[in-house]
Amino acid sequence: MLEFIEIKNNKAHAKIALNGAHVFHYQRVGQKPLLYLSEISDLEEGKSIRGGIPICWPWFGKPEGKTLQHGFARTSKWTHTSTNKIDANTTEVVLKLKHSKESLKLFPYKFELALHVEVGENLKLELKTTNLDAKAFEITQALHTYFAVSHIGDVEISGLENKPYLDALTFKDEVQNGVITFNSEVDRVYQNVTNAVILKDKNRSLHVESFGSSSCVVWNPWIEKCSRMSAMKADAYKEFVCIESANAFEDKRIILANKSHTLKLVL
Ligand code: BG6
Repeated sequence: MLEFIEIKNNKAHAKIALNGAHVFHYQRVGQKPLLYLSEISDLEEGKSIRGGIPICWPWFGKPEGKTLQHGFARTSKWTHTSTNKIDANTTEVVLKLKHSKESLKLFPYKFELALHVEVGENLKLELKTTNLDAKAFEITQALHTYFAVSHIGDVEISGLENKPYLDALTFKDEVQNGVITFNSEVDRVYQNVTNAVILKDKNRSLHVESFGSSSCVVWNPWIEKCSRMSAMKADAYKEFVCIESANAFEDKRIILANKSHTLKLVL
């Protein structure tokens, strides 16, 4: 079993693994869990948890020349630096990851990553990348949130109407026509997204707000891909949708020496 930090306050309950600084449970008092977690997920050091909020860093997807999908932050062991009880309703947890011998082989720069998680009525994540190197580096990244849904067929995502996107299934540039509903595999990187994205299903309506980001990934593997995926039951695609606060595709970021960039998500 993984080492994790458990937070319970008057408003919510959350669990954050040191492996990947991975928030894998968040539930408001009296409500169902907001995040999906695969019942057969690996919960082992060095493996990514299937569900919750994986951190894709320092690259999103699998750029040319990389063998590791979504970077190494999600499978690295982070350091828990503090837990702060702000008041009876709100708790803040901070975790950090610094460059190491192993990371320098994959990403040849010195860096510090800090994840601030605020657990309360809302869930807030702030991922700050600081360049500790003498030269600039480029990153793509995502807070790859798996939202639990009543049924994928009931899901409607709004806020992305008329946005341009890269369809990762066809590699074509498209423009979103109307709200998003699901009846087949969807894997898209939306651009120019600076507004909230709204997820509706039978049970609830949720605002996903991102800052320091103008790209948003929407993903559901649907039947065929889901049956081939690791750590997920064949019909798990019905139970979640990913809406990912990202710096991806045209929204990649260059971080100069001694400068930082913060990607923030508020649910
Ligand atoms: C999404 C990608 O962000 O992550 C998909 O757009 C990918 O293409 C999915 O399949 C899951 O990736 P992984 O590495 O966690 O299986």
